[in-house]
Amino acid sequence: MKAMRFHEFGGADVLRYEDVERPRPGAGQVLVQVAATSFNPVDDHIRAGALAKMLPITLPYVPGIDLAGTVAELGPKVEGVQVGDRVVAMLPLDSAGGAAEYVLVPAASLAPAPGSIELVEAAALPLTGLAAWQTAFELAALAPGQSVLVNGAGGAVGSLVVQLAVDAGAHVSAVDVPGHADRLRSYGAHRVLGPLDLAAGPAAVGGPFQAVVNHVRLPEEGLARLTDYVADGGVAASTAGAVPEAHGRGVRSASLWVRSDGAQLSELVAKVDAGRIRIHVAAHRPVSDLVGVHEDAGAGRLPGKTVLLAP
Ligand SMILES: NC(=O)c1ccc[n+]([C@@H]2O[C@H](COP(=O)([O-])OP(=O)(O)OC[C@H]3O[C@@H](n4cnc5c(N)ncnc54)[C@H](OP(=O)(O)O)[C@@H]3O)[C@@H](O)[C@H]2O)c1
Repeated sequence: MKAMRFHEFGGADVLRYEDVERPRPGAGQVLVQVAATSFNPVDDHIRAGALAKMLPITLPYVPGIDLAGTVAELGPKVEGVQVGDRVVAMLPLDSAGGAAEYVLVPAASLAPAPGSIELVEAAALPLTGLAAWQTAFELAALAPGQSVLVNGAGGAVGSLVVQLAVDAGAHVSAVDVPGHADRLRSYGAHRVLGPLDLAAGPAAVGGPFQAVVNHVRLPEEGLARLTDYVADGGVAASTAGAVPEAHGRGVRSASLWVRSDGAQLSELVAKVDAGRIRIHVAAHRPVSDLVGVHEDAGAGRLPGKTVLLAP
């Protein structure tokens, strides 16, 4: 089968489109024929070797943490899934990914694919959906009536946090560049704001807020200023660097390290099929163009969530 792999850490040019052996499923594993994967910022960090100490991977490595595809073969001791099922998964970060024709998936990571959208579009959901779910409900504990500021709200994770927060009954202020404003309004955000003037402080944007959820890579000083946007006793949850705590005011901080969870992914899929969250895909490209995708990501040229179509 065809797969995109790298044999050493480095720039985008370490990625190679190669013929590799199709894997066979072991106990508890499912072989899935890939329809699509998608690009996530962490793919860039893994390829560059920036996570090599905390996330030991075996080289050569196939990138692509997201998966949408069709079950092709079951390993021993797999129950509840059939050959031909359309599925989605967040793949383990330390094993072969979805930039290939076929990939092995632990059965516990699988969820049924949404029935209401094209299978390839569903490849944009797993990692960002789980990151949004775990940030919104596990870290920020969003609840009805709670005020929340989402910084970087128009991005891949932020768009889903905004929709989950609106769906949960929170009062959502969404912050991002003006190009995302119409889409953020369409999600039901109560207030849509341009990038924060961190020197102006929370009152300028109707804060402080019971929860601040951050998805923007800010310098340490910027992250420290975000603490001021959290009300006394509130929480700052971040996917992009820790916001410092303010112990005197009871402001706690929580950072995400997203994990695969088939049950949470099934709940996200149910929300997609119920029309309660929408997946925003900015571009589709063939997986054979992954070098170009990584180059564009590194240069800040990706237009947003990019789905990578299987060979
Ligand atoms: N630790 C984890 O487990 C985990 C999991 C998932 C993601 N992450 C991290 O979370 C972050 C967000 O991921 P993502 O996939 O959602 O990225 P993304 O799609 O690039 O979203 C970032 C958003 O922030 C916007 N933005 C940039 N500068 C801004 C500013 N000063 N003020 C307000 N908005 C601004 C961007 O606008 P443009 O469209 O103009 O760029 C974009 O809409 C990344 O750093 C990613 O690595 C971490």
